[in-house]
Amino acid sequence: MQTIFSGIQPSGTLTIGNYLGAIQHFVGLQEENNCYFCIVDEHAITVPQDRLKLRHNIRSLAALYLASGINSEKSTLFIQSEVPAHTQLSWMLQSISYIGELERMTQFKDKSAKSAGKEAVSSALLTYPPLMASDILLYKTDIVPVGEDQKQHLELTRNLAERFNNKFNDIFTIPEVSIPEVGARIMSLQNPTKKMSKSDENEKAYISMLDEPKKIEKKIKSAVTDSDGIVKYDKENKAGVSNLLTIHASCSGESVEDLEAKFEGKGYGEFKQATADAVVNVLKPIQDRYNELIDSEILDDILDKGADNASFEANKMLKKAKKAMGLGRVKKKG
Ligand code: AMP
Ligand code: TRP
Repeated sequence: MQTIFSGIQPSGTLTIGNYLGAIQHFVGLQEENNCYFCIVDEHAITVPQDRLKLRHNIRSLAALYLASGINSEKSTLFIQSEVPAHTQLSWMLQSISYIGELERMTQFKDKSAKSAGKEAVSSALLTYPPLMASDILLYKTDIVPVGEDQKQHLELTRNLAERFNNKFNDIFTIPEVSIPEVGARIMSLQNPTKKMSKSDENEKAYISMLDEPKKIEKKIKSAVTDSDGIVKYDKENKAGVSNLLTIHASCSGESVEDLEAKFEGKGYGEFKQATADAVVNVLKPIQDRYNELIDSEILDDILDKGADNASFEANKMLKKAKKAMGLGRVKKKG
């Protein structure tokens, strides 16, 4: 049995990209492993958030995890800010992180470029990776399933763990990253060279997991493709069609090759309709379960239990880390 940890930011309603690139895989993993799924609200505040929206998004994300098949009997589902050990260990890991290596992170560079440079971004955006490392290292995590874009943060997590182990005491498990093959990177429907993101300003660029079937159809029908009318996977020259093929294949379980054969000689209209149907088939049952959960006390009970469970494990590791670094004191006896 291996320990698995993954986190998602409550920074908007999840997209089909989050589902296919992350949650769908989590569901399968929980059968054979000891899994922690975290709603990383402290990561969300590294960029400005509206407090009421954040509150809503946290609860909504918890309900979506469960509606997607995360089982609270098998896995620990919890909210990061409800387990203080995460920020406590994060401070300690910041003390062994170099500003240079943090500044080299692509996510930091991209986000600070977007917000007009270093003067305008929070210092928490820079120290985001040591917090992510803490999330992972507190639970003796063996495997971290994430999308491709998080690979660099995982590499840094491993470096920090090794640095800590060498410098102080060998307490942290060095985690492995696991990136799903199909659907690893779902692209924007409007600009298929860019990742589909729940924080995109253009609503037509993403399919939210809670979009109504009609809306899903509309968004897929207006997805950017090309003018040659051939349903074929070619990421370089046909990024839009390739992205729709990936989405379709991941939702229906068919292979990309099978889909190419199925839609040979058919136009994009028919292909897009079938893609929309495949997406709706996956999302509709999830949305029904979501609606049952979102205002229920059951959801609170599950999150309370999750936070208790996570705190219990995390505090044990935090204690070891403090001891290794020489923080606090050893009480005198007698
Ligand atoms: P985020 O939405 O950035 O908090 O990401 C949560 C999880 O979903 C991470 O594992 C991401 O790598 C994954 N993810 C986010 N967007 C996509 C996407 N467009 N395609 C595939 N995976 C994604
Ligand atoms: N940084 C991740 C993302 O944006 C979210 C995250 C935070 C995470 N802590 C984590 C993912 C720990 C895996 C493990 O997608």
